[in-house]
Amino acid sequence: MCGIVGYIGDRKTEEILLEGLRRLEYRGYDSCGLAVSNLKNKLQLKRAKGRVEALADIVAAENFKGTVSGIAHTRWATHGVPSEDNAHPHTDCQGEIVVVHNGIIENYLELKDELLKKGHLFKSDTDTEVIAHLVEEKLKTLNKGANSIRAEMPEPVFFEAFRRAVSVLKGSFAVSVLWAKTPGIILSARMYSPLVIGAGEKENFLASDVSAFLKFTKKVFFMKDGEIAVLRKSGVDFFDFGGKKIQKENSTVNWDLSMAEKGGYKHFMLKEIHEQPQSVENTLRGRVLPVSGELLEKELGMTAAEIKKTGGIQVIACGTAFHAGFAGKYIFEKFGLRTEADLASEFDERSRLLEKNTLVLAISQSGETADTLYAVKLAKKNGNKVLAITNTLGSSITREADYTLYTHCGPEIGVASTKAFLGQLTAMYILAVNFAFVKGNISEEKARLCVEELLKIPRWVEETLGLERDVEKLTLSFSGKEHYLFIARGINYPIALEGALKIKEISYVHAEGYAAGEMKHGPIAIIENGMPVLAVAVSGPNLDLIRGNIEEARARGAEIIAIVDRESGKKVKAAHYLEIPATDELFSPLLTVLPLQLFAYYIALNRNCDIDKPRNLAKSVTVR
Ligand code: F6R
Repeated sequence: MCGIVGYIGDRKTEEILLEGLRRLEYRGYDSCGLAVSNLKNKLQLKRAKGRVEALADIVAAENFKGTVSGIAHTRWATHGVPSEDNAHPHTDCQGEIVVVHNGIIENYLELKDELLKKGHLFKSDTDTEVIAHLVEEKLKTLNKGANSIRAEMPEPVFFEAFRRAVSVLKGSFAVSVLWAKTPGIILSARMYSPLVIGAGEKENFLASDVSAFLKFTKKVFFMKDGEIAVLRKSGVDFFDFGGKKIQKENSTVNWDLSMAEKGGYKHFMLKEIHEQPQSVENTLRGRVLPVSGELLEKELGMTAAEIKKTGGIQVIACGTAFHAGFAGKYIFEKFGLRTEADLASEFDERSRLLEKNTLVLAISQSGETADTLYAVKLAKKNGNKVLAITNTLGSSITREADYTLYTHCGPEIGVASTKAFLGQLTAMYILAVNFAFVKGNISEEKARLCVEELLKIPRWVEETLGLERDVEKLTLSFSGKEHYLFIARGINYPIALEGALKIKEISYVHAEGYAAGEMKHGPIAIIENGMPVLAVAVSGPNLDLIRGNIEEARARGAEIIAIVDRESGKKVKAAHYLEIPATDELFSPLLTVLPLQLFAYYIALNRNCDIDKPRNLAKSVTVR
């Protein structure tokens, strides 16, 4: 996730852009940059590694005169480490076309190869730079025969070159382009990444979200996938990717600035909960078909021979990432891959007992968690290969690990991890299917069926989040409770642990997650009249047993909130039901966790807790 901003009008462009970037820093903040143009067809471009204030210092020392339009970017690295060279805007060979982009260009390697063959020179490791060269190439094609680009009608030519360029891009993008020869227009297009246009009086804006320009205008056009906007000082025109002009209705935004930054949500946590359909899609994108073993080689640099040589899998992680890894143990084992999962902080002694062909799977959203990094070092010292699953490009764990799989969920700001958890789970399904296929544990047909199921998950996640109002209402009668129990069996046991962790960390109440079958061995003694017990009871091999465990709790006065699907809901007796879409139990953790996240959120909200910054906690835990 990155943030883009654009401005065209009479104000000091660089100042408007910097202000917009500050508002969008929550979308990524490892580097940033801006490019402005003036009526003398001159572009000025400045970039900085680090936060917007570093760029502001550079801009302050520079002489920007007569600027009329500009685009800017704050980056959350996906391709290429955070550095000034990889910071946007990116340029074509002549430095005349500048581009900012949020998203991932999936076919950038193919495009780059073609452009390299045509003599283009690349200066960064990013996927974005291909867009600048592609527009340059399309401009050249449109002017074939002429030595230079036709000066008499640059705007239509520029539009056509841009339209042709975005039409061949695959993946997700909100992209904006400036050309030195046409300072009076900014072109922008959207496909699967957010983009909104702000319409002012003799000035216009574009951004990844309205917070970037809300101070100046509340009149907005929300761009849809496959649309192009042409911004001029005097107005904005919209086209589809076929070049046909379209009419768009504007809307008026009534959010205040802090609401706008959170996309209208009250807290980042809630925003991130709602971003999960997109997160899962981002983790899956370009990685599921065909299942051939090539994916692991392409993504991880891990050959089929290396995979075949691996013995078991050892997961190490902390907190929510550990719960994802613990669910991973069940996932991998369903595919015949023997797996252990350990808390990174408890790994010390065990590291020396690892068999050398065990693949260590280190999971960390931030990639900076000290306990996990230490455990990775121990595993390396023991001679084991380490595969990191992380959300953060260029983070420490990626430098320690032998292989890295990115979750591509975008920055997670809320301290309580939600969308990163789903991304980690999704990454493990991808790994499990591919490993199992390469090792011959599953047939091609079985792999294909799993992938088909996975591809449905984003839609089901969306549907499950539709439970929000029911969960909100339900929590009203529980907000005063100080003790909660979460129970589940099998692959959903880690989800019970995660449900308990979520409510503990943001609501400051006591909660326990238990394997339901273990209740009778002791914990059932704590159940008394009115105790809330959240039970995951979805269809599948574990249903009959968990029904019995729910009955045992009910008999002792527990108030059961059951997470069910339509069929299992008919069989389970509970005080309250939260119904999720039916899926194979194997994939159900991707859905069952969602009502638990929402439950924790609304309990915390009702208790007036500081949800995004809970007491005693930090987003990145860099001490052991
Ligand atoms: C809980 C939470 C923490 C983290 C843990 C590991 O909501 O966010 O438990 O999961 O500190 O952090 P990462 O994944 O960055 O290693």
